[in-house]
Order: sequence, then structure tokens, then C-alpha cells
Amino acid sequence: MRAAVSETFFGAAESLRCRADFSSLGRSFGGHPVAFLDGPGGTQVPNAVIDAIADCYRNRNVNTHGNFPPSVELDARHLAARAAIGDFLGASGPERISIGQNMTSLAFALSRALGRTIKKGDEVLITQLDHEANRGPWRLLQENGAIIREVPLLATGALDYVAMKSLITQRTRIVALGCSSNAIGTVNDIATARKLTRAAGALLILDAVHYAPHFPVDVHRWDPDFLLCSAYKFYGPHVGILYSRAGALEALNPDRLIVQDNAAPYRIETGTLNHAAIEGVGAAVDYLAGFGRGASRREAVHAAVAAISVYEHALGKLLWSELEKLPGVRLWGLPFTQAERAPTVSFTVAGHDSAALARRLGAVGICVWDGDFYAPRPVEVLKVPGSALIRVGFSMYNTAEEAMRLVTVIKEL
Ligand SMILES: Cc1ncc(COP(=O)(O)O)c(C=O)c1O
Repeated sequence: MRAAVSETFFGAAESLRCRADFSSLGRSFGGHPVAFLDGPGGTQVPNAVIDAIADCYRNRNVNTHGNFPPSVELDARHLAARAAIGDFLGASGPERISIGQNMTSLAFALSRALGRTIKKGDEVLITQLDHEANRGPWRLLQENGAIIREVPLLATGALDYVAMKSLITQRTRIVALGCSSNAIGTVNDIATARKLTRAAGALLILDAVHYAPHFPVDVHRWDPDFLLCSAYKFYGPHVGILYSRAGALEALNPDRLIVQDNAAPYRIETGTLNHAAIEGVGAAVDYLAGFGRGASRREAVHAAVAAISVYEHALGKLLWSELEKLPGVRLWGLPFTQAERAPTVSFTVAGHDSAALARRLGAVGICVWDGDFYAPRPVEVLKVPGSALIRVGFSMYNTAEEAMRLVTVIKEL
């Protein structure tokens, strides 16, 4: 695996080449070519993913588990997609991968199931850095008698691990931690959290939604009890993913119909899933794996994501260093000297409303998000003026030229 990572390279030439795979990148707005710098809100999908979804509708638009050929074919494709997602996350196999509408719905389903195991006075730890989808579902456990505690966020943009250590006690049952912040790009120390949760006998639930598009995820290295992510952030369609450690989902009692398959990974999957989109997720993993070398798809996809990560990090660093030079621009979060930092650059401009600025950038085809991105807690704790950031995220198809187009607009202010 290590050899494969070092043999795989993804640079400006590879990025330019991959752009041909994304039809949406050919659009322009008001005569300006589009620059999708909104990846943390959702990436574009390559044509291979669109084709896989269309192929499902053309050939297998039936329900699962039927005793007739298209249904048998669909079941096989779904198993293959779960295997692909398993490879993407480093899981032992498709039986560890549950599918849902999105990360948030799966987190709520998991929270309902965990609620049945909570006793009065049990403690649940969340963080001040996380997206609400990794806070709200666990805060609901208050209704089952749990006490909710928060790991503080430091002014630097990093979590306070000294506080985390003292907050994880023998009473802690669950720690819900993001792998990377969608608001400011911080990458969290999962190994420390795992060590502390293991010593306390607590479950570790990871939100990898913002991390998985930018860094290879290896669930065997982290060994969380549960890990959630979302395919639309890594070039796939809108599908939520739940990885569960062997035995972890089996130990719970999720909401389910009596007619539903009670085995993992299906026991938490309610109703009819988005069949075509699931096929699209498999195609997204295969697409990414196509950029990596390795003896297996797992090695190839991890090598590819690691190589793309280096490229995206360089774009983030470039934008950060250019914006840093501009008077009135304030950058939020850890600088790009950090080895592990998501290529997500959040900033504010003194005297300028972030929404108006995003509209101004949009008018010249530059797509960026403004606001708190459903992560109001870090924005509040960091005291971001107007409670609204501008967020730029880099994906495999973005270029240095796009970053500099944005800098030019900010300079003109
Ligand atoms: C870090 C993070 N966690 C969770 C979510 C929620 O994911 P979903 O839209 O799949 O519910 C998001 C969405 O932006 C996110 O960025």
C-alpha cells in the first residue's frame, strides 16, 4: 500500500485531464466559465457516475430481492457498490456498509437505536467544532437521560485535547467526533480520541463527511465503532453511508419493520433505497481508483485519494498565502503549515457582508458558499463577524487559475 501511494501522482496536468470527465465544468455564467469552489457543499460528478445511474434506470429499474433477472442483477450491483464503498473506507467487506438517504438521516437512526441503551446519568461527548449533523442527533440522547458535554474549540481552530482527556470518564458512553471540520478545515486527532474512548469503554462515532473526499480513510487504523460519510462529497450522488464495526450494529435495536432484514448492514436501512444512486456510488469509487496504482481497488483508491490530497493541499496553501497578503481579509482556522489540513479556506473581509461577497463572486461564475454551513457552533465560538464565513473548497478538478480568479475579485474590493 505504501509503495502504491508513492507511485501515484496527481498534479496540475492530471487535474486538467480529469476536467474532461465532468460535463458540468463546461458551463459558463454571464460569459464567465464556471469555477466550482463549493466542493465542501458537494462535488460535481464525473460522467462515469451519471452513466452508471442512467444505466440502472435503463436496465434495472425494479425492486430488490426479486426472483427475476433484472432484480437479481440489481442485487448483485448493490453488493458490488457496498464492496466498493468498503474498499474506499478500508472496511473488511460489504457487510459493514449500511446505506441511507444522507449522513444526517443515518445519524438520527443510529441515535434512536443508541437511545435504547442509554441510562440516566450516562455521558455523551460532542464537540464545539462539528457540523450540526454530528451534534443534534447525539444531543437528542438527553431525552433518554444522558448528560451532553462539549469538547471546547480553541481560538486557533483546533480542539482542546487537554479538555477532551478530562471530559472522557468512566461515565462516558459515546464520543461523537468529526474527522475534519467543514467550516474551517481542521483535521482532528482521531487516534487520541480512540485511545481515550477505549480506556473509558465508550463508543467512538466519527463523522468523515468532510474528511473522506480529501484523505484516505482506513477504518482499521482508526477502529471507530461507527463512521458516517456522504457520497455526494466525493464525486458520487446523494447517498449516506454508515460503516459499523463488526458486532456494533448487531448490538443495537434500530427502528425497523418486522419484515425487514435483521442482519447487518441492512437492519438500520428502512424503506426502499435509491437504487440507481447506490450504483452511482460504486462508480464514483471506481472512478477515483482509476487515478491510483495498487494491487487491488482498495490500494488504488487510497493511493489516488492520497495523491489528490497533495494537489488540493497545494491549492489551499496558494489561496491562503494570496489572501493573507490582502488588507481587511481575515483567514479562519489553522494555517496550511499543518501537514493534515483539509483544503478548505474560510475567510471574512472587513466591511463586507459574506452573502453579498458570495453573490459578487457568483456573478463572475465563481461558486463559493457563505454562512455557517450548518456548523453554527464553531462560527459562534470563534466569534466570526456577522456569523458568516466565505468558504472555498478545492476538489480534484480545481485549478490554480480558478483560485487566482477569486483572489482578483477580492483584490478589487
Ligand atoms: C462535516 C459534515 N457532516 C455532516 C454533514 C451532513 O451530511 P448530509 O448532507 O449527508 O446529511 C455535512 C454536510 O455538509 C458535513 O459537511
